[in-house]
Amino acid sequence: MCGIVGYVGPKDATPIIINGLKRLEYRGYDSAGVAVINNGQIDVRRDAGKLQQLVDLLGKSPLTGAPGIGHTRWATHGAPSARNAHPHVGNTGKMVVVHNGIVENFLELKEELGAEGVIFNSDTDTETIVHLAEHNKAAGISFEEAARRTFKQIEGANVVLLLSTDEPDKIIAARIGNAGGIVVGLGEGENYLASDIPAILEHTRRMIFLESRQMVVLTKDSFRIETIDGEEVKPEIHTIAFDAVSAEKGEYRHFMQKEIHEQVRALTDTLAGRVDFKEGRIRLPELNLTPELAKRIQRIYITACGTAAYAGMVGKYLIEKIARIPVEVVIGSEFRYSDPIVDENTVVLAISQSGETADTLAAMEEGRKKGGIVWSIVNAIGSQAMRVADGYISMQTGPEIGVASTKAFTAPLVDQYMLAILLADLRGVIDEKTRRELVSDLRLVPDLAGRVMDSEADVEKVAHALKDIKGCLYLGRGINMPIAYEGALKLKEISYIHAEGYPAGEMKHGPIALIDEEMPVLCITPKDPWHEKMISQIQQAKARGGMVIAVATEGDDLVKNMADHVLWVPEAPWMLSPIITVLPLQMLAYHIATIRGLDVDQPRNLAKSVTVE
Ligand code: G6P
Repeated sequence: MCGIVGYVGPKDATPIIINGLKRLEYRGYDSAGVAVINNGQIDVRRDAGKLQQLVDLLGKSPLTGAPGIGHTRWATHGAPSARNAHPHVGNTGKMVVVHNGIVENFLELKEELGAEGVIFNSDTDTETIVHLAEHNKAAGISFEEAARRTFKQIEGANVVLLLSTDEPDKIIAARIGNAGGIVVGLGEGENYLASDIPAILEHTRRMIFLESRQMVVLTKDSFRIETIDGEEVKPEIHTIAFDAVSAEKGEYRHFMQKEIHEQVRALTDTLAGRVDFKEGRIRLPELNLTPELAKRIQRIYITACGTAAYAGMVGKYLIEKIARIPVEVVIGSEFRYSDPIVDENTVVLAISQSGETADTLAAMEEGRKKGGIVWSIVNAIGSQAMRVADGYISMQTGPEIGVASTKAFTAPLVDQYMLAILLADLRGVIDEKTRRELVSDLRLVPDLAGRVMDSEADVEKVAHALKDIKGCLYLGRGINMPIAYEGALKLKEISYIHAEGYPAGEMKHGPIALIDEEMPVLCITPKDPWHEKMISQIQQAKARGGMVIAVATEGDDLVKNMADHVLWVPEAPWMLSPIITVLPLQMLAYHIATIRGLDVDQPRNLAKSVTVE
């Protein structure tokens, strides 16, 4: 959950940066570093471990000067170590970078730069950015132009900050494809950058949020924001209220909206430290999964409540498809009453945001009592579901405050995908090529999610068209069938409109009787293996006069010509598509509820964590 802080002004940058990074510690990290320009030279201190280690290092070997950039890193490419910690300096020693995100094309770039004689000093994807920037600068262009070219060349969802000794008065930063946020803090004769408001709130309340594909050229008394394609941007300057809650909400109206958008960062963080893109392997150390254990598992029960249970239904597809282990999903409140067949070769896997849901905990207890292997996928660190498990996967999404769960739905989809690959690998049921492909697909996820976020205004228009509906049927098939359940649940929870999720193929066995002009049908129709089947579902709904809203893959003209409204999503590998198709449904529910003037963050009768049976 990388944290970033930058400072340009008359003071020494280091204490300001270290203080800011401390305020971002809650995100978790495994190494930290800071770079400043001092007397025209770049000076860097960085180390593995906690910020205190960096502070100790700075005590022995102080760093003076400004501007400066600092970073806390969660390892993605390369182990957590001093040499992989940010900032990274280029071969000429004239440029330095910190970065959050994944450079999807880093292997190609690394090869090209390597062929030119560039020497790589770390295993990170980040390092390619600084080498590329130096390569561009060598063409004799300005720092700004070199940075701009670099931002255009890197693919994926990324936030980048660069310093150059050639123009030591500025920091150049960009947000490309929505890898979490970057905020510009405006001071008097000094300016700041941070990945989150709390990092710099003690210095200024005037802030600008960079949008995707925007860059800023920041000096101590000026800022200029443009798109990376060179169009001028007139940014809105927000004044952040000084209380913690508003600060937390930042530019968003509600926590739910913030958390929907935070998914891009949460998904990046979910991969951090777990995915080794180079080796094409997954590491889930807290699961305590040995090859022997993986081989003896004969059955997995996934148990959870509400949104978490729907995440489990997607997990069933993934684990059965990739690891070939039979999986059954049982709702938490039913598990202990169904006399489940659990023995020492059975896993009971609980999924829970809070880790305190009574029914889920009772299911875990039942699994324990029957001698099963008890695992959990949990967001709240230190919660009971984490403590009592034999092994766990921590969601790494940060606190979720909105009652209607969003980021704690998509993170466990990725967690279960990773778990499926790890199980398949340890059981020897997957060939290397397939494993590498499945792992490699993961790097697309944050950027794809970011692209859906960019379509929020279109989703809002559809929400206006649907604001008065009395009910809605959500249909999906295959791996996207649980997304119909989850989409319907979101609408019910916060807009109080009756909605029902249904497996599309079952429509003809009952729900079809409901369809008329009054009953809209929402069809989840991405380009997955069930696409054609879903098309015929749309046709059947249309034939009965129903209004059809479709979630469809960009460029799908077939759906466009049939549906009344389309919520577009970018094309995704089908096993990862539920992570993407659910996003517009979260936004749709959110906007319908806000248009209806409802309390989105605390809907009536609902609690964030239900600690009673
Ligand atoms: C409550 C919440 C739901 C949530 C469910 C499970 O009902 O309102 O949004 O999905 O609990 O919560 P958990 O913390 O176990 O994921």
